[in-house]
Amino acid sequence: MVKKILCPVDGSDQSGKALEFAVDLAQRYPARLELLFVTQPLMTEDIFAMGTLAIPVDLPQEDLEQYGHKVLDKAEAIARNQGLRDLGKSLRQGEPATTIVDYAADIDADMIVIGSRGLGDLSSLLMGSVSHKVAHDANCTCVTVK
Ligand SMILES: Nc1ncnc2c1ncn2[C@@H]1O[C@H](COP(=O)(O)OP(=O)(O)OP(=O)(O)O)[C@@H](O)[C@H]1O
Ligand SMILES: [Mg+2]
Repeated sequence: MVKKILCPVDGSDQSGKALEFAVDLAQRYPARLELLFVTQPLMTEDIFAMGTLAIPVDLPQEDLEQYGHKVLDKAEAIARNQGLRDLGKSLRQGEPATTIVDYAADIDADMIVIGSRGLGDLSSLLMGSVSHKVAHDANCTCVTVK
């Protein structure tokens, strides 16, 4: 039985697609949906690649957290809009893949639903480094959404 689904979100289109899939699965099982954003200092360029937020080059931790909360709030709104009620969100700091895998174990998630790509700009790659590492290291079922 799948009772808890972890969906790591980074604000990218592909992460949005994974979220849609995770919300659908959570409603069908039904299962609780846990949203996670991981802040890491090297995200400055990623955020600039989005071209939507005007933030200074030296992003302090607070700005990263602010961005993370925005991403989480938006994801929550999307999920609630689809009618999902059993939902949690969390922001953690660290290396994204390791933090996602550890968090999944901490909360005893039955499944991770993750985007194949994220905010990185190497569009020739089929999978980003985070999704690749999470799929490899996760101790539970991991669905990579393309
Ligand atoms: N900081 C993060 N917090 C939460 N989820 C994340 C984070 N980074 C990536 N993810 C998740 O991993 C998925 C794949 O992103 P990934 O970072 O692997 O691809 P990328 O950005 O295209 O490549 P790379 O980061 O290796 O340049 C995203 O769709 C999202 O679901
Ligand atoms: Mg990335």
